[in-house]
Amino acid sequence: MHCTRKVREDLIWVGADDRRLACFEGVYGVPEGVSYNSYLLLDEKTVLFDTVDKAVYSVFLENVAYALGGRPLDYLVIHHMEPDHAATLELLVTRYPEAKIVCNAKIKTMLAQFFALDLTERIVLVKEGDSLETGRHKFSFIMAPMVHWPEVMMSYDSTDKILFTADAFGTFGALNGRLFADETDFFGERLDEARRYYTNIVGKYGPQVQAALKKAAALDIALVCPLHGFVWRKDFDRFVEKYQLWSSYTPEEKSVLIAYASVYGHTENAANILAVKLAERGVKVRMHDTSVIPASYILSDAFRCSRLVFAATTYNNGVFVTMENLLHDIAAHNLQNRKIALIENGSWAPTSGKAMREILGTLKNIEILDSQITLKSALTEGQLAQLDALADALAADL
Ligand code: FEO
Repeated sequence: MHCTRKVREDLIWVGADDRRLACFEGVYGVPEGVSYNSYLLLDEKTVLFDTVDKAVYSVFLENVAYALGGRPLDYLVIHHMEPDHAATLELLVTRYPEAKIVCNAKIKTMLAQFFALDLTERIVLVKEGDSLETGRHKFSFIMAPMVHWPEVMMSYDSTDKILFTADAFGTFGALNGRLFADETDFFGERLDEARRYYTNIVGKYGPQVQAALKKAAALDIALVCPLHGFVWRKDFDRFVEKYQLWSSYTPEEKSVLIAYASVYGHTENAANILAVKLAERGVKVRMHDTSVIPASYILSDAFRCSRLVFAATTYNNGVFVTMENLLHDIAAHNLQNRKIALIENGSWAPTSGKAMREILGTLKNIEILDSQITLKSALTEGQLAQLDALADALAADL
């Protein structure tokens, strides 16, 4: 049975939630599910904006047929070719052979790469600033390369001031019936998952996101329709403020992230004592065990906090594997502008500090504090002063 919702009188959400997916993109856990959004416009011409992941193809096709109400589909606009939105394209274009496919040249290339279909006669190529009139509505197209793939574009409806943003302004989490962000306590309850979505999916591409934000700032926007998560009709400026911070690698708060990897608890003990000393200095601490908390959550907090502490045991003459994975992930996502402190541990040849420093040394605009602490198996009474000094250095100016 179809399951749709009106965005406006002539714009219908025809997407679907997926709550069975364990890992988005095979790597990011989504315990609260994810939504794949697709929108159908019922103007003089009918226009479908993107399709959905193959996991939800069945209800999606029912939704499109129901929302069309027997009308033909005139246009399919493709904003992004990643299969979480494009995997059902083949089914859709086969079912609606009259539909013209509106896309840019890079999308056309990827269409041919993903699908053994000859769509040449059906494609309407658009580039930056081109427009499409569908009756009452008039759309223009905005290229947004690397937000999150190179072919990404957005569409702007100058009639009803609607911006279709592809992956931008999405979030993890199923909609659960709530289509609009203002139907949730978004900044209280949903922001963490929006941050985790942004930082892990497009966090690497801050400059490209900044370029897209600059283009969007020139538009009069009443409604924002992303491909995941909620539609925005209120308080969008507050979300844009977060995007400005995240995409410029500006910390969201003055706080310290402590991430530790500890095999038998001794490194954890030092991390706990440091956390106490920071709390005593009035510093907000966020703390994660890298062996328990998936990297996507810790990466998200690394974008959030202004100062980062990594404490890890030596392992196989390097750094413990869960910490190594986390640090490579942070480096791959281009995090910048942070003050960082390191604590290493090793019972006979501590090398984790050096290994961590080598990975983090690739980040731009970071300061790694000289006061690295080395534990030989366990913290000694005499090293408490070192932790005090480290807490002082981290608390300075916070
Ligand atoms: Fe939601 Fe980049 O795909």
